[in-house]
Amino acid sequence: MTDTATNPDVRLTTVGGEWWRTAVIYQIYPRSFADSSGDGIGDLPGVTAHLDDLASLGIDAIWLSPFQRSPQKDAGYDVADYCDVDPLFGTLADFDEMLAAAHARSIRIIVDLVPNHSSDQHAWFQAALAAGPGSPERARYMFRDGRGPNGDEAPNNWESVFGGPAWTRVTEPDGTPGQWYLHLFDASQPDFDWSNEGVQESFRDVLRFWLDRGVDGFRVDVAHGLVKQHGLPDYTPDPEAGSMGGNEAAVPYWGQPGVHDIWRDWHDVLAAYDGDRALCAEAWLPTIAQTALWVRRDEMHQAFNFEYLETDWNAGALRRVIDESLRAYGEVGAPSTWVLSNHDVVRHASRLALTADTPQGAGIGPKSPGKPDPVVGLRRARAASALMLALPGSAYLYQGEELGLPEVIELPDDVRQDPTWFRTNGERYGRDGCRVPLPWSAEGPAYGFSDTGASWLPQPAEWSALAREAQQGDPTSTLSLYETLLAERRARDLGAGTLEWFDGGSPDVLAFENGGVRVLANLGSAPVALPEGVVLAASEPLADSILPPDTTVWLA
Ligand code: GLC
Repeated sequence: MTDTATNPDVRLTTVGGEWWRTAVIYQIYPRSFADSSGDGIGDLPGVTAHLDDLASLGIDAIWLSPFQRSPQKDAGYDVADYCDVDPLFGTLADFDEMLAAAHARSIRIIVDLVPNHSSDQHAWFQAALAAGPGSPERARYMFRDGRGPNGDEAPNNWESVFGGPAWTRVTEPDGTPGQWYLHLFDASQPDFDWSNEGVQESFRDVLRFWLDRGVDGFRVDVAHGLVKQHGLPDYTPDPEAGSMGGNEAAVPYWGQPGVHDIWRDWHDVLAAYDGDRALCAEAWLPTIAQTALWVRRDEMHQAFNFEYLETDWNAGALRRVIDESLRAYGEVGAPSTWVLSNHDVVRHASRLALTADTPQGAGIGPKSPGKPDPVVGLRRARAASALMLALPGSAYLYQGEELGLPEVIELPDDVRQDPTWFRTNGERYGRDGCRVPLPWSAEGPAYGFSDTGASWLPQPAEWSALAREAQQGDPTSTLSLYETLLAERRARDLGAGTLEWFDGGSPDVLAFENGGVRVLANLGSAPVALPEGVVLAASEPLADSILPPDTTVWLA
């Protein structure tokens, strides 16, 4: 099957070379990227309008967070129709136009696919509610009878990732209290039963729908959750583990072996297309070795390296994770990915300076302990990004990190929208602070995000100075740093390189060579001497052959 009829850019789809092994992939969170309609929510024409900015930044591909039809109870991760664009974001024609415009700039597009659960507004779930217990309609989801004499206790003790119970009881069509359905996330996000063949077949069709339109791949949401352990045994999560279970072993709903059959099946669906289409797993698993099993040659192509994202700003710890990643992914013939920020975690310009433990998904807000020093945070973020972009493999960037945007901590309670905030009665702030709309211009309504000044979350006044326009052409700006790093990375093909450590003169310094570039990152608190060399990029100004604290340099 080919897609050349719908994809105008034949070159991109026929010249492959497994682009995903080395690509820098930029995550667009559409509702916060750029708003062309003025309603305060970003949209697909907003993406199209800024493709030249992304091309000049130097990225290879875009990952688009969900834009499919959805009641937006979890910002689009609650999908009511997998094969249409939500009117908030535009139309399918807008999608096609954006895709063609991206391909014309040699930028690939991967789209988010949410297979663990649908929206409760999906036609299938509505049909399941209407059809009643024991029906084929209910068999597509995880309906169970309750425990206790009247079935009024949940089928097990599982908790939702967003807080509260993972089960909700329905009222049957005849008005009586009825069965319960499982939702690992919000009650508006019922989990599919992936042993159901109708579910499997329907998702193959969804993959083909977007592949036929010309997309280059998929980021697969909650890829570690699709298969649940037989018998659904009780389980109490580790409160320290983070909401997606990152470092917990043997959770009955995460990382079950049956998921691998699904990825093999999907691998074959993609392989029938030209152009090196790729699958990337969002899977929070306890070890890198375990995640590597997801990217064996007949399964997915990439998996997010969350172990890297969660590693502290510490030279020894980072070196261990980098070594282990290159070893474990290398053993199965896959590239490692590298990532520091996304729409679910505290932005790394704040996270790297937190002084209190903050589990993934909990977020930070006005009353959080250990608030970060913004100056230290930005300095470390620039150094961390310069380190990451020198590593071989593929790197993911999250919109706004190229501007050095911090987490917005002081959001008022009444603007928060993350279901985590509501389901924990404000005990966990959730993820709104990393989702605030981007500043494009130093002045003007909503700093250029929308023409009307509308913005679904308020932008802080300090963001005027961080606007893209304000940073453009300023050699000291974070934007210029990213442009330099990405240009050098591409020119020297660092994504395809090999890493060799050398002694950087201090245990707090990470020092390695890749593709003829020597990279030194000083994670300690004392300056160190720099070796000779031509400076290709530096995360801070350098003087007198000294590498200051929290600074990374690339030397030729
Ligand atoms: C993934 C998404 C997150 C979403 C959740 C439920 O973790 O990244 O934003 O809330 O899945 O779909």
